[in-house]
Amino acid sequence: MKREVELSILDELLRQLDEKKNVDAGVMYRNPTSAYTCKDVARREQEVFFRDHPQLIGLSGSIKEPGSFMTVEDFGVPVLATRDADGQFRAFVNACRHRGARVAEGRGKSKSFMCPFHNWVYSNRGDLMGIPLADQVGEIDKKCRGLIELPAVEQGGLLWVHPRADGNIDLDKQLAGLGAEIASWGFGDLVHMGETVIEGRLNWKLANDTFGETYHFSRLHKNTLGQVFHGDALGYEEFGRNHRFVIATKAIDALRTRPRNEWDLLETTSPLYYLFPNIQLSFGKGSVSLIKMYPDPEHPDDPSRSRTRVVHYFSQELIDQAEQAGADELRNPENPYEYDGETQPITTLAALTEVFDSTIEQEDYLMGAHQQRSAESGQVDHLLFGRNEPALHHYHSHFREALGMEPLERIGP
Ligand code: FES
Ligand SMILES: [Fe+2]
Repeated sequence: MKREVELSILDELLRQLDEKKNVDAGVMYRNPTSAYTCKDVARREQEVFFRDHPQLIGLSGSIKEPGSFMTVEDFGVPVLATRDADGQFRAFVNACRHRGARVAEGRGKSKSFMCPFHNWVYSNRGDLMGIPLADQVGEIDKKCRGLIELPAVEQGGLLWVHPRADGNIDLDKQLAGLGAEIASWGFGDLVHMGETVIEGRLNWKLANDTFGETYHFSRLHKNTLGQVFHGDALGYEEFGRNHRFVIATKAIDALRTRPRNEWDLLETTSPLYYLFPNIQLSFGKGSVSLIKMYPDPEHPDDPSRSRTRVVHYFSQELIDQAEQAGADELRNPENPYEYDGETQPITTLAALTEVFDSTIEQEDYLMGAHQQRSAESGQVDHLLFGRNEPALHHYHSHFREALGMEPLERIGP
């Protein structure tokens, strides 16, 4: 991030905190609750956002070494992503070219993949390498029976896949000026440290909405995140359909008496990039939480269910520090966190991610589930987005525009 941008965000947050006035869009909107309940909308979302739109599947650290692979089952097309011997990121439809079974499961390291059904074997470049009893199967041109390759781009530490083989990934257009800034943080060096799946009884957009304002921080999260963050203040900027959303931690208060050349964004705030349509990328010094929200992939036309996958990445430096702290905690009988000496060496990082994940699930998504029920009651025809919730205006306006829906109804000047 450019230094002048960093300073201007901090100036803006301090101004809002001093004046006790949150960001102000100057307008309110009504959002029809049908956006969260309509099956026809859900079907169009599948097509436009999840079948015909580039998907951010992870950070580079998810398949760090040559020979690493990961599979993705969160949207309509099953994906096998690999890093080949040359370090090239590749993606394929995770479907055998014999009769379509999955050739790989989970994450790991492997140069080749053997389909469990009849044991056809593919390389991590997608080439069909072997067919048991090939002469009994018939004449097959192996060159034409490799895994179906999908467009795949690795840029700024992010792994993008297009779910259609003939699709196009144009990140300059999609990121709308945010690409260089994202790349400047060095996310590509981080290590994949685990993930959590939250299956919720709420539309995937309600899940996303909980990341769209700071108004609830000091209220819903008053005993959790609200202890660490200032609510009711937001550094906010839009980049096409995406936005940057910066929340101040209480550490920002100390900047008022510190020289400007010592001001540091990551020491005093928690920035978050919203990447249209379903990604929240929250980060700090040496850490990223990648939050991906989807309609329930088992019931893609059911608007009332969603799956959120939260993936945590840390720098090697932080992991080393935490391992040291974990070892210290092991010697401390008062330590509240379980440590069995093998499966959970990263005690403090595990605790950190658990707090993050459970706050989302037990506080934010609980509100989302209530909102879903009220939308489904048929008695609440719209929700209100306040002047202090501009990220929700932005997100829902673009979401509706992309689906060819009527714009949100404006209230006020
Ligand atoms: S379906 Fe994969 S080998 Fe037959
Ligand atoms: Fe929240």
